[in-house]
Amino acid sequence: MDFSAAGSIETESGEILAVPVFEDRSWGPGAGWAADRLGAWLDGFLDVQSFSGKLGEVVAIPTAERLGFRTLVLVGVGTEVDDEVLRQAAGWLGRHVTNAVDVATTLHQIDLDGAAAAVTEGFLLAQYRFDTYKSTGEPPKTEHLRFLAPGGEAASSAADEAATVAAAVVMARDLINEPAIGKSPEVLAAKAVEMGRSVGVKVDVLEPADIEREHLGGLMGVAMGAHNPARLVRFSYEPEDPKGFLALVGKGIVFDSGGLSLKSPDNMETMKTDMSGAAAVFGAVRAIATLGLPVRVLGITPLTENMPGGGALRPGDVIRPRNGKTVEVLNTDAEGRLVLADGLSLAAEAEPDLIVDLATLTGACKVALGSKIGGLWANDEEAADKVRAAAARAGERFWRMPLPDDYRTKIDSQIADMKNIGDRWGGAIYAALFLKEFVGDVPWVHLDIAGPARWPDPEHYQPKGGSGFGVRTLVELAKELAGG
Ligand code: BES
Ligand code: MN
Ligand code: ZN
Repeated sequence: MDFSAAGSIETESGEILAVPVFEDRSWGPGAGWAADRLGAWLDGFLDVQSFSGKLGEVVAIPTAERLGFRTLVLVGVGTEVDDEVLRQAAGWLGRHVTNAVDVATTLHQIDLDGAAAAVTEGFLLAQYRFDTYKSTGEPPKTEHLRFLAPGGEAASSAADEAATVAAAVVMARDLINEPAIGKSPEVLAAKAVEMGRSVGVKVDVLEPADIEREHLGGLMGVAMGAHNPARLVRFSYEPEDPKGFLALVGKGIVFDSGGLSLKSPDNMETMKTDMSGAAAVFGAVRAIATLGLPVRVLGITPLTENMPGGGALRPGDVIRPRNGKTVEVLNTDAEGRLVLADGLSLAAEAEPDLIVDLATLTGACKVALGSKIGGLWANDEEAADKVRAAAARAGERFWRMPLPDDYRTKIDSQIADMKNIGDRWGGAIYAALFLKEFVGDVPWVHLDIAGPARWPDPEHYQPKGGSGFGVRTLVELAKELAGG
């Protein structure tokens, strides 16, 4: 899709003109002008529609040549507009106009910083489809999004930047939605190498022999039952004069059967998405490097299947992740924390300013916060605040959760330094306490995205399925570390 600055609403023409309307039908930029021109013709249409301007409402009105545009689309934006509202409104618009090649809009004229970026992001993300395996079905036709003056020029350059971020989210979604049969660790690592080459990021791929030599006992343990060999991908983005050093660690279980502690068929259905944390790291690295943000980034993604093959880890086995602490594996379905143990140890060794990990880690977090909000844990207040602020700017919702010291005894093991499960009540907290054992003194934020990694039902700019949740928060965080 391309983005351009166009002339004024009076002189331009085309297929679709999309204008914002506030609640109770109070006209936003451009809408008043269009309403004046259409007069009673518009009232006639609105009388039969229940359009009030609430967020989520979109209505298309044929103009019958009363305007230069064939169709006027009224986009509800509600009462209090912020970036996220605009993103969502543009998302509803994007899903409504998939048959139009050319869309002109005044949505960006709502007086907000970054309005054009929000509109672009919402619009592009809404028109995402995963149609690799569909023999029929029409992809959206929209090719041009035009920002009508005033402010069109600035809008179109902001839009290009937002499109870079949206493309990274789309890449993450494609990886998440891909069936496990098409994304073995080897295949994902090859994609990482290709992506790194295209954006100027160094990529190291550790193969099983390297994984063993580096003492990555968590990743090795989980991979024991899998037919497809594991990989660990390490991205190093090293711009000149970096303003900070960020380490990102993503859980990359390309399929989680549960291992010998096998999941039920129902619970296994969506487990191709258990690499969403890794996908978010892929996407964030791509966007940060493409934008050329002056912050050093180390991205670490341990990649493996969790399968119950003949060589699989048995409940009761003891493994030794990278930092040397021993772990009694009582449930092989709590595998994410085992591979993250190695990822976090490697990240901590690099002594970054901040480690952020992302993982579809626990069903318990999804039970606690539902499908649209992630859990956030941190060992450092400043780090927690930074990530929360970045997430708020991105419109991705996280809720801070506790890391209570006195709960640590629940992961005490009889025979090892710890076990990989705690109590059923507060399961997501035990997972977080487990991870904490591997970050040393480095400021660290853990994001459990078991819920929002996969959007349950389509709405605004989120289609059903892989959401790419986390990518935009990480990009915002990198922008912040880079100095705004
Ligand atoms: N990948 C799952 C968590 C998950 C569940 C993600 C549902 C998305 C939706 C994780 O590996 C897992 O199986 N966790 C177990 C941990 C338990 C055995 C302590 C869980 O949550 O049941
Ligand atoms: Mn599991
Ligand atoms: Zn898992």
